[in-house]
This record gives sequence, structure tokens and C-alpha cells, in this order.
Amino acid sequence: MATNDPTTQTLAQLGDGTPEKVVARFDGVRHEFDERAAGASSDPETWKSFVVQWTGRKSGVLSQITDNWLKPAPPELKKAVGQELNKLKAHVEAVLEEKCKQIEAGAEQAAAARGQIDLSLPGVEHAIGTRHLIYQTYQELERIFLSIGFSVVEGPEIETPYYNFEALNIPEHHPARDNMDTFYIHGARGGHLLRTHTSPMQIRTMEKEKPPVRIIVPGKVYRRDNPDSTHGYMFHQIEGLAVDADITFCDFKGTVEYFVREFLGPKAKTRLRPSYFPFTEPSAEVDATCHVCGGSGCRVCKFSGWIELFGAGMVDPAVYGFVKYDPEKLSGFAFGMGVDRLAMMKYGVTELPVLTQNDVRFLRQFP
Ligand code: DAH
Repeated sequence: MATNDPTTQTLAQLGDGTPEKVVARFDGVRHEFDERAAGASSDPETWKSFVVQWTGRKSGVLSQITDNWLKPAPPELKKAVGQELNKLKAHVEAVLEEKCKQIEAGAEQAAAARGQIDLSLPGVEHAIGTRHLIYQTYQELERIFLSIGFSVVEGPEIETPYYNFEALNIPEHHPARDNMDTFYIHGARGGHLLRTHTSPMQIRTMEKEKPPVRIIVPGKVYRRDNPDSTHGYMFHQIEGLAVDADITFCDFKGTVEYFVREFLGPKAKTRLRPSYFPFTEPSAEVDATCHVCGGSGCRVCKFSGWIELFGAGMVDPAVYGFVKYDPEKLSGFAFGMGVDRLAMMKYGVTELPVLTQNDVRFLRQFP
């Protein structure tokens, strides 16, 4: 096979390099794709296998790049690789879609010419689905953090008390356990539980990986709340953790402010209010100026001008003890956001249950 075969190109590791080299490698792949797409046969079967070769979930070129380039990329190249991969994906999708249209139109014309299609029949309308509001919000949050070098990891929804509580500096009988009405599995306190937050993945990640760590963790969490217009037994969170040799409170504040401006718009201001979480010290609630009135006061912000967004803080040194990190050499920050809350706030949704009822009249409002 030729050396510029996309499969051999992307199976090889990206290796060390500079962002410029990364761009050059991606340019190579893009060029290769363009050439092949232009010359691709429009015979339906051949075309299908061409599409699979590039976008197939398991071994398509795009998946290979994710596995072989993006995942093992060193932290300093992650951002460049992520950005280039997104660009390439968008390009490949657009070209494939255009070509698909051409092929379909060609096939229809050919059939019409053979007299097999009655072109005067009205067309069949296809109902087009939309991404769920929660999913769209996750995508938006991930976009923001991926663009500043975080990567996405996921973890189990069934946890042990050790990861959900102890290793996060919440020992047995700590009052913080009562605030998180927990679903225990098999009724046994020592056994398993449904995670009450995504924070356990802080511990699991630090146990497995050496610093620097820069992760976000999207996922479902569960609490024994009485369902009402703002509470359910399940909701969605996104956790964040950054640990490195000399991360300061300034880095924390800068990241939070960047996030708020990206999420709510360039005019949004941020305020940190002292708070308490067992696994961060100091801890803060992050508020932003109300997105509806801009801070002058309205019904949405209860005339305070501010909206509470999420909890965060500098990682408590006690937590490092559980994962054998040296608190003398390392520091970092963490945050945990309620995705349903953020989505409701940003899109003006007032009832939490509509997010899980899947009423198409609601879903269609967020194309
Ligand atoms: N785990 C907390 C909760 O569910 C949210 C949270 C607060 C997470 C502060 C953090 C943090 O990582 O630093 O209520």
C-alpha cells in the first residue's frame, strides 16, 4: 500500500512534536481525504465502504486519530491535536454529506430516466431529530474546557463509599454525608451506592495518573431528593480537576472567569463567595452577573443581580494524601457544576422535569 494511505498514516503514533507539526500532519490527512473523496466511485456499495473507512466508529480514520493521536498526546500538544481533529471532522462530514447528496440525486435522475420514479408524487417528509438540551449543554461545556487543555474522562455511576466520600475527605459521620441523601445498593452502608456527585473521578484519575492532571468528568449523579420543579432523583454534573506543580488561586480564578465569559457571553462578570466543601480549601461558590438583566436586578436573579453557578475551590491537601500525591509539591483546583441547572438558567427553562419527559413539543424548541 502507498505510504500516504490514510490507515498507515494514522496508525502511526503522532510522537513528540510541535503544534506546527501537528497541523502539518492533519493537513496531510485532509489532503489525502480530499483527493480520495473527489475520485471516489458513486456505486452505492463502494461509496458506503469509503464512508465507513473514514468515519467508521471502530476503525475509521477519524476514530484511529482519536485513539492514536489525541488520546496519547502529551499535555502540551493536546489542545492543538483536539482543535485540528475537530476541524478535520467537520471538513470530512461536510464533504461526505455534499457527495451523498450528489449521489442520491444522480441515482434518482437515473431512475426517473428509466421511468421507475413518478416525479410528480409529493415527497416524503423526514422528521429530523434534535440533540437533547442537556446533551447540547454538555457539548458546549466540553468545547470550552477542551479549548484550554482539559480532557474528558468518564466514570462509574455505581461507586463505593470510599471514592464517593472517604477519599474526598468526607469520613463516616461527617455531616456532609447527610446533605447528599444517598441511594445505597443492597441496603448495606459498607457496600455500593449510586454516586451522589462526579467528584469520585477526581480520586480515580489521580490514583491512575501522574500529574499534571487536567480533566473534566461529565455524567449522571443520583440523590434521594423529593422530586419537584427543581429537584429529581437523577441529575447531570460536570466535574473539573486541574493539578500541577504550581497551580495558584489566580489560575483558578482566571479559568473560572474564562469559563463564565465563554458560557454566558463576554459581558458576564464573576464573583467568588466563600463556601465549604470537605475536599477543597478554600472553597467558593461561583456567581455570575445575571444573564437576563445584566446585573441590575430582575425576577430571575431575585433582584440581586447575581446568579449562583457552581461550587469550586483549591484541592484540599488532605485529598492528595489518599492518592499518594505530594501536597508539598502539588496544588490544584476543582469544580463541580450542575448541568441541568446551567441549561435551565441559560435557556430560561423553569421546570426540571421537562428535561427528562421527552415531550417533543419541548425538545423542538431547542434545534
Ligand atoms: N461535588 C459537589 C456537589 O455535588 C460539587 C463540587 C463542589 C465539586 C466543589 C467540586 C468542588 O469539585 O471543588 O455538591
